[in-house]
Amino acid sequence: MCTVPKEAARPLRGLVDVELTVNGGPAAVRVPVHRTLLDALRDGLGLTGAKRACNEGTCGACTVLLDGVAVYSCMTLAVRCAGRSVETVEGLARGRDLHPLQLAFIEHDAFQCGYCTSGQLMSLAGLLRRNPAPSEADVREAVSGNLCRCGAYEGIIKAGLAAAAKSS
Ligand code: FES
Ligand code: FES
Repeated sequence: MCTVPKEAARPLRGLVDVELTVNGGPAAVRVPVHRTLLDALRDGLGLTGAKRACNEGTCGACTVLLDGVAVYSCMTLAVRCAGRSVETVEGLARGRDLHPLQLAFIEHDAFQCGYCTSGQLMSLAGLLRRNPAPSEADVREAVSGNLCRCGAYEGIIKAGLAAAAKSS
């Protein structure tokens, strides 16, 4: 459960200033209390990697890491992330060097339209953070909340396992 440090939540004509860490750097957004983290990232910070699809916590396209744990950003209030660390797909690569998961997605043909891909990547990034040597069942469980309308599941599972093998 996220907490809101009192000093971070300063009501201002219905708006709240939220300071947080995004992809390792400081960030600040001024949002209505009801604004979701997804909207704050996309519309407030210009980070459009997390996708809006169902916007009701069923598809996983909006998945990001919050303090290292995968969450649906469409179901997370921005004000509840004050003082916390958010990681999005934009933070996976290191400069021009793609993350092992991104390389594995390319190698294993793990996407078609790509709309679900950032969410799949972040769910798997969260898994590898807590379990660097996951089983196939672990990988399947990690992306079980991420729908892929293109049906690229086989490649996604293979890519998750391949990235884990290279990372561990
Ligand atoms: S857009 Fe968040 S779960 Fe679908
Ligand atoms: S690649 Fe199209 S929805 Fe997953």
